Amino acid sequence: MVKIGNLELGDFPLLLAPMEDVSDPPFRAVCKQNGADLMYTEFISSEGLIRDAAKSVQKLDIFDYEKPIGIQIFGNEIQSMREAAAIVEEAQPDILDINYGCPVNKVACKGAGAGILLDIDKMVSMTAEIVKAVKIPVTVKTRLGWDNDTIRIVEVAERLQDVGIQAISIHARTRKQMYKGEADWSYLNLVKDNPRLHIPVFGNGDIDTPERAAEYKAKYNVDGMMIGRASIGYPWIFNEIKHFLETGEKLAPPTLDERIAVAKKHLDFSVEWKGEKLGILEMRRHYTNYFRGMPNFKQYRTEMVTTESYEQVCEILDEVARTYADYEFSL
Ligand SMILES: Cc1cc2nc3c(=O)[nH]c(=O)nc-3n(C[C@H](O)[C@H](O)[C@H](O)COP(=O)(O)O)c2cc1C
Repeated sequence: MVKIGNLELGDFPLLLAPMEDVSDPPFRAVCKQNGADLMYTEFISSEGLIRDAAKSVQKLDIFDYEKPIGIQIFGNEIQSMREAAAIVEEAQPDILDINYGCPVNKVACKGAGAGILLDIDKMVSMTAEIVKAVKIPVTVKTRLGWDNDTIRIVEVAERLQDVGIQAISIHARTRKQMYKGEADWSYLNLVKDNPRLHIPVFGNGDIDTPERAAEYKAKYNVDGMMIGRASIGYPWIFNEIKHFLETGEKLAPPTLDERIAVAKKHLDFSVEWKGEKLGILEMRRHYTNYFRGMPNFKQYRTEMVTTESYEQVCEILDEVARTYADYEFSL
């Protein structure tokens, strides 16, 4: 049984990765329904929280049915991160997660996110202060290092454990790699081989099929896996992986009715949550995967990602339901 503090997460939990503009309440609702064992919010700026910025504060909204859930924060100032942590705790998540992995310039080049991998001592003291500031378990999400010459993930995991974090998720790329090349999970073995390390270690990077999940589970000895991009528009990935790990067999892919029902639920919640304009816009990245593998779908996809009207998306979904009524998805 994998545990973070008192939270029991089953034998090999599958985590929904924190993803800006993706892992919001509407998307989390469909991931939860499809087997995600632990979910994280989008990252929240500590400075934004302290300033009470609307965008940051809205990301604190979590619902009982989502539990267990972690709220993730980022920032480069220890004092601001402490204050933000206290604000997060008031929202009553199960976990507070610290983002030490974001590679984008405007975050990392200011010393937040993956930027802190250039100053491990500061990373350790910041973490220690945050752990002291809250009662809920603190977890960390990070990368292997800044670049190939600065990979110190074994030491980092141990030092962060020693100042009180209760789990670590490792995206097995460096900051320099951004999202390019393959994630190198062999470092996860090294982290797990450290006899002093007892907190759960979750592997992250490139898990996109049940087969790959099974292969990496067998090879890399991690306590669970975190899934990001492969879940976008395909929340079924969680249950598909679980089923394959348990039985060695693949679940039948979701039917057209399921795809449409889940896409519609996601769309409705999105529009309700963010308003029509933004709700429609942020749904666009999901459609390709919701309807993955369907022949001659390009025309519908193009329509879906260009319209700005809720009614029109619903009409397109109805038309898709009629056109592909007899289509069978193969494994
Ligand atoms: C659109 C997008 C937004 C992301 N936002 C965050 C974020 O807010 N916090 C974070 O820790 N990682 C973020 N990430 C990184 C993912 O959590 C994950 O580490 C990365 O995508 C690798 O996992 P994957 O190969 O399963 O996608 C983001 C990734 C993507 C694609």
